[in-house]
Amino acid sequence: MKILVKNISGTNCACDALILPFVEGDSEFYKEFGTAFQKQIRKAFSKEFHGKRNELLLMPAPEGIKPERILLVGLGKKKEVSAENIRQAGGKAAAHLCGQGMKKIAVSTTLISSLKLPLVNLVEGALLGLYTFNRYRKEKNSKKVESITILSKSSKRLADELKWTRTVISSVYFARDLINTPSNDMTPSDLANAAVSLRQKNLSVKVMEKKDAEKLGMGAYLSVAKGSKEPPKFIVLEYKGSKGKPLALIGKSITFDSGGISLKPSDGMEKMKYDMAGGAAVLGVIKAASALKLPVNLIGILPATENLPGGSATKPGDIARSITGKTVEIINTDAEGRLVVADAIGYAKRFKPKAIIDIATLTGACSVALGNEAIAMMGNDRKLLDKIKKSADNTYERVWEMPLLDEYKEYIKSDVADVKNTGGKSGSLVTAAYFLYEFAEKTPWVHLDIAGTAWVEKDKPYIPKGASGICVRLIMDLIKNWK
Ligand code: BES
Ligand code: MN
Ligand code: ZN
Repeated sequence: MKILVKNISGTNCACDALILPFVEGDSEFYKEFGTAFQKQIRKAFSKEFHGKRNELLLMPAPEGIKPERILLVGLGKKKEVSAENIRQAGGKAAAHLCGQGMKKIAVSTTLISSLKLPLVNLVEGALLGLYTFNRYRKEKNSKKVESITILSKSSKRLADELKWTRTVISSVYFARDLINTPSNDMTPSDLANAAVSLRQKNLSVKVMEKKDAEKLGMGAYLSVAKGSKEPPKFIVLEYKGSKGKPLALIGKSITFDSGGISLKPSDGMEKMKYDMAGGAAVLGVIKAASALKLPVNLIGILPATENLPGGSATKPGDIARSITGKTVEIINTDAEGRLVVADAIGYAKRFKPKAIIDIATLTGACSVALGNEAIAMMGNDRKLLDKIKKSADNTYERVWEMPLLDEYKEYIKSDVADVKNTGGKSGSLVTAAYFLYEFAEKTPWVHLDIAGTAWVEKDKPYIPKGASGICVRLIMDLIKNWK
């Protein structure tokens, strides 16, 4: 899709539809469209359109101007309009026009500029909202927006922001595709191939096989892979854009989580293809960072495996030894995420990273607590937690911090091993994080539980139902603003 910047008036822009943003209650903003049109808009304001948040009204354009149609979109109360309102309006408007078969879209930016809000968010929302997943449909969706024209003065700043946004969103698409792909086409080997496809001069990708993981002593990770015929792949990416210590990003990469011997109920089990959403987000970030040639060093680690029951599967009560030497009593084979992430954390420490961030669909309790709306965040480093909170607010990929209280240590004490892999029902969101803390120890580390946010059950303004690709935008913002 093309994104154009043109410094012309909306009346002169030939397009299928021109988007005109409005704030609540003000029908008078666009004088240049003539008095007849002004009347029509006033009429709309007295009936079905008021400029409320995400309200839409498509109408034929008046005689004598170049756009074919006008789409009114509401931003809400003038005093309350935020960058996020604009993102949502962009998403809603673009998806609506696409659904109507429009190919050439333009947006007026005079109102947004007058509110001193970022134009780029409108494009960001539009691009995010136009995502579709058609890989398995015979009838491909022929409705495709060909171009979005931003009616604004061009500037270096706008061009830079657009480049950043386009690159990041294309990584969000990449992550969403990986996550939406069912597990029969997204095995650990498929995920490894996706990682390998990112190889560049500054970006190396190493895929470790089972025997390599054995040599390294990653018994916790390997214990999860035992029930599956699909070979596990421990994927390591290194992006070198500068000198200095790397930031290590770990993404839980269970390509299907059946629960293993502690089998999950069949209701909703099909969704467990998204248990590699953390890994997909890490790949997305590294892809974008390398495309933008960012001056940072990143390590990406994806401990990929399926979690299946089988004749050789791990059984409750089994004990695994992790790369750090710590032993884990496996009480519940469905608490597999922490096992693979624990070994990934132990492995990450070998790079002496400045910080480790793990992104994982770790617990059902996360969605119980926060629904689809926020990531649960826990960690051992105040500065890192605060930085992530800032980026979460910037991107609206919101985080909510949960505590890591010393007392949780008791919950995961084992009678026979150093730790056990579940602390029971009560506190299961935080005890899962505490388990990881036992492996991160003193290294600055933050855990992001995306079990509730990685998959949305019904369309959001710029996230179509399905994989959200969450954390790509969040971590990219974190890297951009890292100090
Ligand atoms: N992948 C699941 C967590 C999950 C559940 C993600 C629902 C997305 C939606 C994880 O491996 C899991 O099964 N966790 C268990 C842990 C329990 C057995 C201690 C859970 O939260 O139920
Ligand atoms: Mn599980
Ligand atoms: Zn899982």
